[in-house]
Amino acid sequence: MCGIVGYVGQRSALDVVMGGLRRLEYRGYDSGGVALVHEGEILSAKKAGKLVNLDAELAAHPLPVAHTGIGHTRWATHGAPNDVNAHPHLDATGRVAVVHNGIIENFASLRNELEARGHEMLSETDTEVVAHLLHDELERTADLSDAVRAVCRRLEGAFTLVICDADQPDVVVGARRNSPLVVGRGEGENFLGSDVAAFIEYTRNAVELGQDQVVTITPDDIVVTDFDGRPAETKEYHVDWDVSAAEKGGFEWFMLKEIDEQPSAVADTLRGRHSPGGLLQLDEMRISDTELREVDKIIVIACGTSFYAAMVAKYAIEHWTRTPCEVELASEFRYRDPILNKSTLVVTISQSGETMDTLMAIRYARQQRARVLSICNTNGSTIPRESDAVIYTHAGPEVAVASTKGFLAQVVACYLLALYIAQVKGMKYGDEIDGILAEIGRIPDGIQRMLDEGDQMRKLATELAGSRSILFLGRHVGYPVALEGALKLKELAYIHAEGFAAGELKHGPIAVIEQGLPVFVIVPPKGRDQLQEKTVSNIQEIRARGARTIVLAEDGDEDVVPYADHLIRLPKVPTLLQPLVSTVPLQIFAAEFASQLGHDVDQPRNLAKSVTVE
Ligand code: F6R
Repeated sequence: MCGIVGYVGQRSALDVVMGGLRRLEYRGYDSGGVALVHEGEILSAKKAGKLVNLDAELAAHPLPVAHTGIGHTRWATHGAPNDVNAHPHLDATGRVAVVHNGIIENFASLRNELEARGHEMLSETDTEVVAHLLHDELERTADLSDAVRAVCRRLEGAFTLVICDADQPDVVVGARRNSPLVVGRGEGENFLGSDVAAFIEYTRNAVELGQDQVVTITPDDIVVTDFDGRPAETKEYHVDWDVSAAEKGGFEWFMLKEIDEQPSAVADTLRGRHSPGGLLQLDEMRISDTELREVDKIIVIACGTSFYAAMVAKYAIEHWTRTPCEVELASEFRYRDPILNKSTLVVTISQSGETMDTLMAIRYARQQRARVLSICNTNGSTIPRESDAVIYTHAGPEVAVASTKGFLAQVVACYLLALYIAQVKGMKYGDEIDGILAEIGRIPDGIQRMLDEGDQMRKLATELAGSRSILFLGRHVGYPVALEGALKLKELAYIHAEGFAAGELKHGPIAVIEQGLPVFVIVPPKGRDQLQEKTVSNIQEIRARGARTIVLAEDGDEDVVPYADHLIRLPKVPTLLQPLVSTVPLQIFAAEFASQLGHDVDQPRNLAKSVTVE
């Protein structure tokens, strides 16, 4: 939540910062602002609303060219999203400018203390206290980094801060606790950003910061210390995607581009997982085979769409490893006093690697001595760093707020994990694993087919665009797909959409079925388990009550034909893998439906990409 950029070098800082903010806008878009250091002064501009408003403000009141600057795009926590509360915030003399992501929990007491000393606050934000605290510190020390460290020692909560000082051109200072900040290493220039997308246009060399660290960038140097000023260890890494991955590439929306990238997101997540000896291998698996063999319970934890990937994971883990598996919403996990010990493996799933609820669940699990493995799409983010082991998904950057390719890649990573545990525990052997991996390896073609047939979903979205309520039904792994279909529609189209386990319908929800209500039904492949037959009965039950049925069923399933008002064909794949193909038409439908209503598909109202508050 909130995107932050900092720059020092020879280029126009405003161009670099605005470019970075545009690529970070998915993190929050309630307001935007910049501050530049120019001839001993801070010059700033800020505006409520999306960055186009800030662009217009800058066009109407241009700022001079400067080479040191910071910027911010906001997802409001404290204070309404208006011009005054927009960042940067300055101290009373206008000497320092501060941008902030996170929540300063003790801001009320700090604000009282500052006001008692005569400071006057202009905004309702927690951030402004930092600018005022820095003002006082800079009367004690001339050094901005020292002042920032002193202020950080007083702050409680989660924060990334980026600061510039009118009296110290060519210096930008950043600090982080529980909130993301990465450094971009350039030549004769350096960058700060909430994530690497902020500076990917200029450098792919990044420096990962740890918890409670302060970084000082100048054109030629990057100095990192802890909050007490002791030199800190950092990790350098190379970003394996380039600026084109962070741009729309001809698509109207990032979300459409990301839906289209799913065949490669799945293929890339599978790539390189086989060792020369034919065994499945997982990078950064710092949990030994002995420890894995001792695991007697697995708990998969996540939020939102990632939680639905976790639900799919449960089916795969229990089926392939015969190890009991629970699934839990991260925001609920630590409040139910869960039973954990060193034989429990906690698996967390997070696209961004920054979700605060998930991070807190990890910390809780580790305190209880459980081992934590994270599935994550963002190299260098907090969640993998705080986990014992990590499986990276290789979906590339996901910019649209609604997760698409991130979800499919997570589901693949869950299958890989389940197979790996099955291999280690001796539940599955080479040939069997090879066979399943080969099935997953064919999935990108199935996804491509769903993309090629996307027009039927676009047409359907036009037909149903007037609907105010849409239901989704599924069984087994189709149930999380139904939930995901409903979530996508809710968040993008702002209409009532709900997913149900198809078998639950008769226990209550069937009462809402009325004439013409659109209901999507995901039909499992035919198998020994009778899932398909039972779902076909459910379709008949709702159709008899007037529902307009949109049925997703595999090629050759003729049983559904008489009861489908619209029939979406899926390629034949094993039941467990079906979410990888059945989710795709629902994503296309939601994006198109929202687009028809004139909504911003990439940046739905009230949302932000990385939810770094609890
Ligand atoms: C929905 C969506 C969210 C995220 C959730 C978790 O489209 O994107 O529900 O899935 O906020 O985010 P991560 O995976 O980054 O932890």
